[in-house]
Amino acid sequence: MGMAVNHLPQIREECEVFHLSDKALREIMHRLHNDLVKGLGKDTHANSIVKCWITYIQDLPNGKERGKFLALDLGGTNFRVLIINLGENHFDMQSKIYAIPNHIMTGTGVALFDHIAECLANFMKEHDVYEERLALGFTFSFPLKQLGLTKGILQRWTKGFSCSGVVGEDVVQGLKDAIARRGDLSLSVMGILNDATGTLMSCAHKDPYCRVGIIIGTGSNACYVERTENCELFDGAPGKPELLINTEWGAFGDDGALDFIRTEFDRDVDANSINPGKQIQEKMISGMYMGELVRLALVKFTKMGLLFGGRGSDLLFQKGSFYTKYVSEIESDKPGDYSSCMDVLEELGLAHASEADMCGVRAACESVSRRAAHLVAAGLATLLNKMAEPRVTVGIDGSVYRFHPHFHALMCDKIAALVQPGLQFDLMLSEDGSGRGAALVAAVACREQALA
Ligand code: GLC
Repeated sequence: MGMAVNHLPQIREECEVFHLSDKALREIMHRLHNDLVKGLGKDTHANSIVKCWITYIQDLPNGKERGKFLALDLGGTNFRVLIINLGENHFDMQSKIYAIPNHIMTGTGVALFDHIAECLANFMKEHDVYEERLALGFTFSFPLKQLGLTKGILQRWTKGFSCSGVVGEDVVQGLKDAIARRGDLSLSVMGILNDATGTLMSCAHKDPYCRVGIIIGTGSNACYVERTENCELFDGAPGKPELLINTEWGAFGDDGALDFIRTEFDRDVDANSINPGKQIQEKMISGMYMGELVRLALVKFTKMGLLFGGRGSDLLFQKGSFYTKYVSEIESDKPGDYSSCMDVLEELGLAHASEADMCGVRAACESVSRRAAHLVAAGLATLLNKMAEPRVTVGIDGSVYRFHPHFHALMCDKIAALVQPGLQFDLMLSEDGSGRGAALVAAVACREQALA
């Protein structure tokens, strides 16, 4: 048997491509800031990459919202229907997850909305509200050009969806039509919103300093509170000083703005995705792609002879086989312990891995997840600097942030390094922002309607 060579230094060197210096991060912030301003501007919006969509939400919850609401949540890994009871000092919530089978994700829009309406009807029956006329909030986590709180035109699908006949159409109408086709439900759709917006709303319900909501899950996005006067495209009723903006920052880089940091692995992930050239920032960060980035790096290192004695496995070479949750699991091992790593490698048919291999695999995971956390930190610091408020709470949701053991700490450190001195920030895990946020949007809309 030959001497085991330690390839870790070389693997670490290869992983340097994922490292982002503060200088690079500041350049990214500068570019993102310009893109945000372009997205907000009347004359620049049409050609902007980061769209900064207007949400028509101008009132944050004040904690006094009450009542029973339905919510739909479409756009993450799961589709859910929820019923939420906002009470005096509590709220309770029941929800059910429904599968969106692949043929529906990539089928027709009509089939998608019929499926949603059917799940909704079944859910209402199970919760004894089938006969009631309830207000509903719809969390629809894709880029929408909103024309009002209950009118939103889908701009593009992201995250693996590609239903026909929906892009360019009003999604609320699509839902209402499906409900009408059934003829058995009576509901008032009170608002449509994005999951980042929902996260902001649900955090603001608890914490009055919350002014930003972000998602680091299947996709990546941010919503923040902007001064209405800066939102040149806003055509709603004047008088309110603030407006929530859905940045859709996942599209950042679609014009090449991030090419100076992209790696061969990023280009590969993009080229083999359902939407090449689109959502470039999201593809460097979010849960739909992070595992695949790691897998591509591991494949390269294996072929170079740096891992597994040069012997991979069929699964390792198969696209999509390295789940993002593996990254969180592997990095959850304590230093010197490789039990989760070993489990993952066994699942992938790599039981022949040595301890040095496991070190190398962990190094690849750390490099990719660290880069993601730093890119999110740069995005957040850009927003915090732009808002320039002395104290801001950021509500965060999504599987990557929630389950990765170091994401929060990595983000905090990097934001602190990048944000304007004197600006204070807190990152707060949002408990089910998309569901509760939808109920809150519906509640606030009912409240405003009653006042009008
Ligand atoms: C994608 C969607 C965006 C959503 C994000 C997180 O980027 O385009 O609307 O907020 O994913 O789910």
